[in-house]
Amino acid sequence: MKTMITGVRPTGSITLANYIGGIKGFVEQQYNYNSLIFIADIHGLTTYIDPQEIRNNILDITAMYMACGIDINNTALFMQSDVLEHCNLGFLMAFQCSVGELSRMTQFKAKKQSLGKNEKDMGLFIYPTLMAADILLYDAQIVPVGADQRQHIEKTRDFGERFNNIYGNTFKLPDYQIPKIGARIMNLQDPSIKMSKSALKDDKGTILMLDDIEITRKKIMAACTDSEGKVYYDEENKPGISNLISLICVVNNMTIEEANKKYKDYNYKDFKIEVADNVCKFIKGIQDKFYQYRSDEIRLKEILTAGANKARIYASKKL
Ligand code: TYM
Repeated sequence: MKTMITGVRPTGSITLANYIGGIKGFVEQQYNYNSLIFIADIHGLTTYIDPQEIRNNILDITAMYMACGIDINNTALFMQSDVLEHCNLGFLMAFQCSVGELSRMTQFKAKKQSLGKNEKDMGLFIYPTLMAADILLYDAQIVPVGADQRQHIEKTRDFGERFNNIYGNTFKLPDYQIPKIGARIMNLQDPSIKMSKSALKDDKGTILMLDDIEITRKKIMAACTDSEGKVYYDEENKPGISNLISLICVVNNMTIEEANKKYKDYNYKDFKIEVADNVCKFIKGIQDKFYQYRSDEIRLKEILTAGANKARIYASKKL
């Protein structure tokens, strides 16, 4: 059986984009693989985050994973820092890289620009080596992620292959699995940038899974569109409407063609109402389950401990 792994950084509240890019595909396929899902808390420390906030976010994500349908009888759900083999292999991975190749990583260049002059950037710089370790440690071959993580998975393949060529066949090489619809969910207010959980708390363009449903509705109703007045998918010329089409397709399991057909005679206001109704209903269902899981912290911590114990069996052997 092949192994599948994915993770989310606990650096902010989970967005609908995180669900679509990283979690949905994983949940759908969890029984077809030897499955592991984790909270990338060490990656979350690459830039400063308040310790209490990260502790809280870790439990939020654990409960959110459960609410989204992770079955812990099948899948190891754990916190990265509970399995220190990740750091150990990450360190060794860094020895296989050059400064030049890490400084050319798109995410490093983008994030470095947004850092203040005196902020520390070494964690961001070696981020790909830890991410490679996360995957190679388990010989994972399938990694469900959004399009923004593609380069990291390609690098993981490079590092693994390089290591295998030097030291003999040690690691299986992974492939990314990017969702057909919603690979890159865009900000509702500015559809030229991706929806991101690191956005400001009152960002009207980001749908948080834990936002009050009425706030989500307002965000969707205020989404940026265009002046043509016709509903159809055209990512290049109609990024705002296309983004809303992606959202409704994902929550209703519809294809783009089906949506184009169904909504072709809608005006933008009615279409937004339809998107808001469907997205809110979907998120509300997850929220109800989330609050049930979140109310029992002892249970959540037990889940993480059990998941780490399971993950460590593979990780320690591989290391
Ligand atoms: P993170 O925490 O930034 O995002 C978690 C998942 O959400 C996806 N995603 C999106 N998908 C579609 N549209 C968007 N706008 C969008 N924004 C985020 C991401 O692609 C990701 O799948 N480096 C990773 C965490 C990580 C990881 C790993 C993932 C660490 N080690 C090993 C897989 C395997 C990250 O920062 O994800």
